[in-house]
Amino acid sequence: MNYGNFGGQYVPQELKKELEKIEKEFNKAIQSEEFNNKYMYYLKQYVGRPNPLYYAENFTNYCGGAKIYLKREDLNHTGAHKINNAIGQILLAKQMGKTHIIAETGAGQHGLATATVCSLFKMKCTIFMGKVDIEKQKINVDKMKLLGADVISVTKGQGVLADAVDEAFEYLLKHKDVFYLIGSAVGPSPYPEMVKYFQSIIGKEAKKQILEQENKLPKAIIACVGGGSNSIGLFSEFINEKDIDIYGVEGAGKGLGTGRHASAMYEKNIGILHGMKTYIMQDENKNVKEAYSISSGLDYPGIGPEHAYLGETHRVIYDSITDEEAIEAFKILTKEEGIIPALESSHAIAYCIKIAKKYNKSDSIIVNLSGRGDKDIQTILKLQSK
Ligand SMILES: Cc1ncc(COP(=O)(O)O)c(C=O)c1O
Repeated sequence: MNYGNFGGQYVPQELKKELEKIEKEFNKAIQSEEFNNKYMYYLKQYVGRPNPLYYAENFTNYCGGAKIYLKREDLNHTGAHKINNAIGQILLAKQMGKTHIIAETGAGQHGLATATVCSLFKMKCTIFMGKVDIEKQKINVDKMKLLGADVISVTKGQGVLADAVDEAFEYLLKHKDVFYLIGSAVGPSPYPEMVKYFQSIIGKEAKKQILEQENKLPKAIIACVGGGSNSIGLFSEFINEKDIDIYGVEGAGKGLGTGRHASAMYEKNIGILHGMKTYIMQDENKNVKEAYSISSGLDYPGIGPEHAYLGETHRVIYDSITDEEAIEAFKILTKEEGIIPALESSHAIAYCIKIAKKYNKSDSIIVNLSGRGDKDIQTILKLQSK
């Protein structure tokens, strides 16, 4: 599928056949009541959905503007939104007769979600993770190993998320019998549309919940963007509501001017990465540049193709938040609400602090709290002891 000028399937011929099979199976699955019932069963009974849309009163008072609601993806089993997609894709893989799942992971949340569903559905599990991220997100690595996954340390390149995706694709080319369970709304078609479908539960629930609580739609919605799965999941239900401002927040790392950041939307170079055409960070010679963000889940030099399209058409405003601002927001939400957010989600929280005052007190804003911050506590404590 193409999103305007973006998307597509830029992969070697031998992978195209496999992608065709997945697309066929996916299209069949989403028409099937039995498949959708099974998917919803696991979301309810295993993941714990629907999760709350929580009115954060203390945080609202802190920000001094619109009423702020948090979509609590952090309360899902395994602690983030990634499990929604992992359940959907593994059901598909099972339907295709696959027995071995591979996945990439940055923050470890997608790796953890994948290892978890592999235990549940009795599949072999191999996780590719950059060496640097393995050190940063130790708790998640330990959990994946306990669940029985093989965690492969990727030392190529910078040893981060993009390198883990490269390695997973290389493995897939050599072992076409495996199912690659991609964790974000990236990669060749049909992955971006599949991940969006399985994450759109976030937007569906949030819309119903805000109407129940406020009797009207929000004025703005905000989500952080790595590859773009929690954000596209939330945005999907609101994109056609013209009066709602939609914000996607990337990692500005040390600052956009320093070159040490992870904002593909700031660089706005069109290129090919991981089988898709999208905005990517690349140099004059079209080499992919190293992305950097304190949060491993945002540390990606590209962005999902639908986001590129939504940015180009100005339906969504893409902006970014620095490491320093995210750390501050992490501390503020923890103190104000007793909720410890993931560093990725802290980028959306920080952006909310910046813009809440622009809106009336009778308006509301939904922020997607994509994950919990247990995995980031050591990073924060280390910074505090410096
Ligand atoms: C908690 C959390 N939020 C957000 C992200 C970013 O990914 P995406 O843009 O696909 O939602 C990650 C990625 O690991 C994550 O772990």
